[in-house]
Amino acid sequence: MSEEKENKPGESSILKRLKIQKRGDASDVKPIKREFKKREEMPVSEEEVDPINVIHEEEFEMVATCMQNMEPELEQELIDLGAKDIRIQRRAVMFKGDLELLYAANIWLRTALKVLKPIYHYTAKNDDELYKRAMKLPWESIFSEEKTFSIDSAVNSEHFTHSQFASLRIKDAIVDRFRAQQLKRPNVERYDPDVRIHLHINDRNITISLDSSGTPLFKRGYRIQQHLAPINECLAAGMILKSGWRGEVDLLDPMTGTGTIAIEAALIACNIPPNLNRVNFAFEGWKSYNVSLLSKVLGEAKEKYKPLKVNIYAHELNSNNIRSARMNINSSNMRKSILLEQADFFKSKPPSDKGCIIMNPPYGERLELQEGLPDFFEKIGSTLKHEYSGWEAWIIASDEESFKNIGLKASKKIPLMNGKLDCQFRKYELFDGKRIEKLKAERSEG
Ligand SMILES: C[S@@+](CC[C@H](N)C(=O)[O-])C[C@H]1O[C@@H](n2cnc3c(N)ncnc32)[C@H](O)[C@@H]1O
Repeated sequence: MSEEKENKPGESSILKRLKIQKRGDASDVKPIKREFKKREEMPVSEEEVDPINVIHEEEFEMVATCMQNMEPELEQELIDLGAKDIRIQRRAVMFKGDLELLYAANIWLRTALKVLKPIYHYTAKNDDELYKRAMKLPWESIFSEEKTFSIDSAVNSEHFTHSQFASLRIKDAIVDRFRAQQLKRPNVERYDPDVRIHLHINDRNITISLDSSGTPLFKRGYRIQQHLAPINECLAAGMILKSGWRGEVDLLDPMTGTGTIAIEAALIACNIPPNLNRVNFAFEGWKSYNVSLLSKVLGEAKEKYKPLKVNIYAHELNSNNIRSARMNINSSNMRKSILLEQADFFKSKPPSDKGCIIMNPPYGERLELQEGLPDFFEKIGSTLKHEYSGWEAWIIASDEESFKNIGLKASKKIPLMNGKLDCQFRKYELFDGKRIEKLKAERSEG
């Protein structure tokens, strides 16, 4: 019997991961209930902190980075995970917690791109000071000499004009620190390092962080077939969270391409962590890496699985894209949760009486259309109006003209970025005739 036949929809991925138990035995680990912690305001400390204490503290600061305008969803995800001292920044959310939370954040966060662990804040006004202070860090207690490492940097400072040179000075500090401790020097590896270090310089303020994720978290591992214009997985998940859909009504992704929105929706509705099947996180290269703790976090994930109660429809016109979507859906282990079908949105009937549409139509800039973009969006508007009363529809598109051509009044407009494109994510409520009459009656009575 195949594994998929043995398990309920979506369950196979968790079981497979736990059965493999590469990371240790989770069978004897009881799930721990996380306490819900309310957000407390806490000012960001600009003080220099003793790096040794920061490294060994049980509770420490973390920063989850995200795409523009995804901060509120990321904040809510962190509250749900039990993070403390949550503070929203631009394209990032800071929070506090322990190693268990760091693992859970990497596995569970749907809208985070990376989770960083700052280990040293200090001030420096030149490369020499940058180097000397970085030498103070006990790098040898963070990772061992056999591990390879890389440094990436974000520099905004007139004191440090060459970000690559600043990275090089940190690299020198690390290597010299190992040597000074009579240890072998660790090697730098640009493409696939064991340990990733992030250097952030703003004016004279230096922050050295450990990148706990490594490969960005939007690379869930299920995308095996690329499509001309797939949507970023974190953006797709964030759009679904913004729409408020959590699996209570049917969902239709009518132009599914490679299936990203449908896959992310199924993961949300089944409460499956998006990065359960990732093979590697950068925190596995740290000395503090705790295999059984990670197994415990994965064990908790299994307990949180919810069976799907509604239908998730993924429709697509292009047969090559259908093939790609099928492969991606299979590799995400969500095959039994998603109804994939080749269908033209303009010619097919709605799959249910009501539900939620989340649509990422072609952009024109990147995809060839048989008709012009204005006609295409006009057809979207008239199809929604005439066929989908009782539904609500969310559409992401990049230009105002396209939205005008839809010809419907949006009840919400949320600016988002899709790659380098400035976009808007708009909500349309498609009332049926009876509902409009009822609303009119209510208004005249009121
Ligand atoms: C921007 S892509 C969607 C990308 C998708 N979100 C992903 O992550 O791969 C738009 C998709 O709409 C499909 N499409 C265009 N016209 C369509 C129609 N009339 N009915 C259904 N799908 C259509 C295209 O073939 C294309 O795959």
